[in-house]
Amino acid sequence: MVVLGYNGLMKPLVLPLQKDSPEPLYRQLIRLIQDQIREGALQPHDKLPPTRELADALQISRISVVSAYTQLQEMGLLEAHPGRGTFVAGVTERQNDPRALPSVAANPIAQTMHRLASQPGIIAFSGGTPAEEFLPVSAIHNAINHVLARDGAAAVAYEETEGYPPLRATVSEYSATLGIRCKPEQVLITGGCQQALDLAMQALLGEGDVLLTTNPTYLGILDLARIRRVQVIGVDMDEGGMRMDALENAIANHKPRMIYIAPTNHNPTGTVMSLHRRRHLLRIAGAQGIPILEDSVYHELNYGSDPPPPLKALDEDGVVIHASGFSKVVLPGTRIGYLITEGSAWERTLRVKQAADICTPGLNQRAMHYFLQSGALVGHLDRVRRACRERRNAVMAAVHRHLPQGTIFDEPSGGMYLWLRLPLEGPTAAELYVSAIQHGVAFAIGAMFYTDDSDPQSAYYVRLNFTAHPPDQIEEGMRRLGGAWRELAAVHRPTASIL
Ligand SMILES: Cc1ncc(COP(=O)(O)O)c(C=O)c1O
Repeated sequence: MVVLGYNGLMKPLVLPLQKDSPEPLYRQLIRLIQDQIREGALQPHDKLPPTRELADALQISRISVVSAYTQLQEMGLLEAHPGRGTFVAGVTERQNDPRALPSVAANPIAQTMHRLASQPGIIAFSGGTPAEEFLPVSAIHNAINHVLARDGAAAVAYEETEGYPPLRATVSEYSATLGIRCKPEQVLITGGCQQALDLAMQALLGEGDVLLTTNPTYLGILDLARIRRVQVIGVDMDEGGMRMDALENAIANHKPRMIYIAPTNHNPTGTVMSLHRRRHLLRIAGAQGIPILEDSVYHELNYGSDPPPPLKALDEDGVVIHASGFSKVVLPGTRIGYLITEGSAWERTLRVKQAADICTPGLNQRAMHYFLQSGALVGHLDRVRRACRERRNAVMAAVHRHLPQGTIFDEPSGGMYLWLRLPLEGPTAAELYVSAIQHGVAFAIGAMFYTDDSDPQSAYYVRLNFTAHPPDQIEEGMRRLGGAWRELAAVHRPTASIL
């Protein structure tokens, strides 16, 4: 039991954490603070202790406090005011004031994680960026020089909102190689796949509409939904991706306006949906008239057997809006993504694109077009896939060697991530994070990717971007991570050795 005494605006806070309880610490904190708000011990506008101070007082990791505060903010119970601190939300005021805006603060866990992972000497498996050595810098250098010399001012003038016509034609031809039959007029060039997702969301969803997605899901879609005020409902997954029985229940219960899904090399879990399930999904969505926003950004980053075709290739009812791009297989920084759609969805996304940024930078579009036309993609993809496969093999061996028994994971056949569950008897991923940083290694905390905290095991998941480092660094990183876990587990559960 910890009682924190505060003067001025702060009140005494009674937080009887049970450190040996199986309930994760951050969740206990959420519950205890919620109780105090409900019982009136904490009132609107009361100030909470800074995260570092509370973590020190409770002798827990700061990340647990940050996670609890973040979730309480998302639930509307706390409000963060930069430079002033965290306060109990003025609930009645908010409810009575139709002009009050919900918080759109950046995810503080992600920010803290990123800051800690960027320190010198840390082997970071936390990001979503392809390894620098995979980026075809000299090819893109040539491409930029070539298009500037060839097109002059046109290369740096405004481009058509729909995109540079030859690039749209090339994307349509390229998509045909994946089984998607579309005309160049159906291709909208976007600022990365992220903007493609955002445009589709803005075009087809209104405030309060329900979006179904896998639970866990891509962090960027959760972020978009937050700022666009779209309600996200998570649908359970298994090793084959979104479960169709759970989808049918969610449709019946929540009347969704859209389904967002990444059927191939899912981020964060790495799952690939079977052809059978893809068809089942299309039947369900087609029968109910629910558009599917397909995220295909990892489709080509495949180094096992070929995945089934994208949903858009199987889409007979025109329900699929296909979003993809070249960030994960060529260059993230050129920000070239695309949407393939038709009918009113096409018209609406184009309108939103026009309002958002007029056009995607023409120089980048032309350079990407030149790169694709030169035929360089095939050889480049081969090299990247080979390196990713080697790194995948290295991480599998290193995880077996260094992580504790009871760690659960599947071997990914594509994408950039290994998704693993730590032993449930040991520390949570958030608890492990700070210790891991001290040991010189960083990962992404799995709980961030969940749409809600209904699954108590979510606190034990870790996402590793194993493609970020060569095999020797992977080996060293996993050695450090195993060491961090053991050190913490010894304190966390001194009686139960599962090593
Ligand atoms: C599943 C998923 N979709 C979309 C994106 C965004 O891609 P881009 O960099 O092309 O905007 C990412 C990036 O991490 C991702 O993981």
